[in-house]
Amino acid sequence: DHNLVILGIETSCDDTAAAVVRSNGEILSQIVSSQADLLARYGGVAPKMAEEAHAKVIDQVVQEALDKAKVTERDLSAVAVTIGPGLSLCLRVGVQKARKVAGSFNLPIVGVHHMEAHALVARLVEKKLQFPFITLLISGGHNLLVLARDLGHYIQLGTTIDDAIGEAYDKTAKWLGLDLRKSGGPAIEELAQQGDPGAVNFSVPMKQHKDCNFSYAGLKNQVRLAIEAQNINAEIPISSANSEDRSARANIAASFQQVAVLHLEEKCQRAIEWALKIDPSIKYLVASGGVASNKYVRSRLNLVVERNGLQLVCPPPSLCTDNGVMIAWTGIEHFRMGRFDPPPPANEPEDAK
Ligand code: KG4
Ligand code: ZN
Repeated sequence: DHNLVILGIETSCDDTAAAVVRSNGEILSQIVSSQADLLARYGGVAPKMAEEAHAKVIDQVVQEALDKAKVTERDLSAVAVTIGPGLSLCLRVGVQKARKVAGSFNLPIVGVHHMEAHALVARLVEKKLQFPFITLLISGGHNLLVLARDLGHYIQLGTTIDDAIGEAYDKTAKWLGLDLRKSGGPAIEELAQQGDPGAVNFSVPMKQHKDCNFSYAGLKNQVRLAIEAQNINAEIPISSANSEDRSARANIAASFQQVAVLHLEEKCQRAIEWALKIDPSIKYLVASGGVASNKYVRSRLNLVVERNGLQLVCPPPSLCTDNGVMIAWTGIEHFRMGRFDPPPPANEPEDAK
């Protein structure tokens, strides 16, 4: 059906997002309300505070998404909502809102897996992208390599044994005294451009492991020690640091980024070799999740993928970081296959799941 219109709602972490997407891939609206100020003030996501922040804006974010798309609830075919993984207090805000809208307007609901949505949004971006394909999902909480054989049929090739790469970017940014209002990743990416990636010799994680798993806790620790060794004081924001101090910070950012990404490159190479053995018809590697919006990450992955005769698909930054479009789109993919729940009862009590 080419005329489905789906509302997608995402509240799994620190962004409240909603979007309306048509089944032909047209994005009718996309609204994100970020908790960047809270993040900067408390240096991380506090679940209770994040929940309150979501609850405060969810109605408005959904209304804006509908208004901007020039549709009303009556024009919708279904409501899609993230049901996990994520902070349960936060997920609940989105799920309750989705059930309220669906209940009031007799709409089916599609529960969406957040990581699946990060992967599948690539099919909205690149219409040629057919299953099977390999996916690298890199965000604040996840570091996954997955072989997507078909819709709902995923084989995990690798995951992180401790931290995800985005967590390493975020902590490095915090310890280097960077402005956290724009979140750690982009701040490191920018600073790294002014540094020498060869300045600090960090070791590449998991080199001796012949699998596709990741580890970023050790690298994070190496970065922390390097920062201490150079007497860099995170209390002094980089904007007030002298030029020597600033270039020391830039060098650490660049050295960290090079090794963090080298780890991705090595494991992607291995995953491609594995996956092609299972299924030689694979033509694409999809990179998605917040960290995939990083230009250095993209350019390095592109080299790996080209070397193997594959093509890289990387959604634009606004679709790599958490967003409602990916939820709506994944809702469409499942809805088309008949995978959805019937409308919930109208006027169900607020605390119903
Ligand atoms: O996918 P996402 O928005 O949320 C999660 O599901 O976690 O990813 C957020 C992560 C954060 O760690 C953020 O610092 C990182 O993605 N990130 C970046 C960049 N933009 C966002 N990391 C490196 N470079 C970037 N340009
Ligand atoms: Zn995410």
